[in-house]
Amino acid sequence: MQKIVIMDHPLIRHKIGLIRRTDTGSKDFRALIGEIAMYMCYEATRDLKLRDIEIETPICRTTVKELSGKKLAVVPILRAGLGMVEGMLAMIPAAKVGHIGLYRDPATLKPVEYYCKLPADTDEREVFVVDPMLATGGSAVAAIQMLKDKGVKNIRFMCIIAAPEGVEAMKKAHPDVDIYIGALDECLNDHGYIVPGLGDAGDRIFGTK
Ligand code: PRP
Ligand code: URA
Repeated sequence: MQKIVIMDHPLIRHKIGLIRRTDTGSKDFRALIGEIAMYMCYEATRDLKLRDIEIETPICRTTVKELSGKKLAVVPILRAGLGMVEGMLAMIPAAKVGHIGLYRDPATLKPVEYYCKLPADTDEREVFVVDPMLATGGSAVAAIQMLKDKGVKNIRFMCIIAAPEGVEAMKKAHPDVDIYIGALDECLNDHGYIVPGLGDAGDRIFGTK
């Protein structure tokens, strides 16, 4: 059963309030995207598998837990997904990182693919695809399909702001992929921007435009 988790942690909600503001400049916007990704990663890794192992403390032998499931990978959708990588790695430093380059054609709103570079063993890993924005869903659906075409089976998707249209597109195309959402917004406008949203995430992270 597909999990669709909308974050309710007060720190995440507060920081999402800050990134929506027009008067939040690139430096703060970038830092906040990284912090939100870190908190979201904490929530999205709650169900990772653990096993018992015996260890020696300075006092005695005891049983502790260690992660036992698949190794992890983070795959940002370029460009804006890059802003989430550092925060993810702060929580899961051993994860490998792949990159998928897609941009949304402004006229058709369809994703255009321009890059894909993944760690060689990505198909054996649990993969977190990250992008701050899920609008029509075209980019996330295409990125996840690219991974599936390369044999990747265990995929989760994390976004900071989602539109209902994007969530529906993901549910239809990839019902096997759990989705972690920072905030679920109202709708898309005529230009495919999320309302109330935060504008163009890539431009705000990198200071373009
Ligand atoms: C943005 C965003 C997503 C996509 C979401 O990227 O980072 O990748 O739009 O829209 P969708 O759900 O309708 O596909 P954009 O295409 O602006 O590229 P950029 O990150 O390079 O600026
Ligand atoms: N991409 C963005 O960066 N923002 C939106 O609102 C929609 C797509």
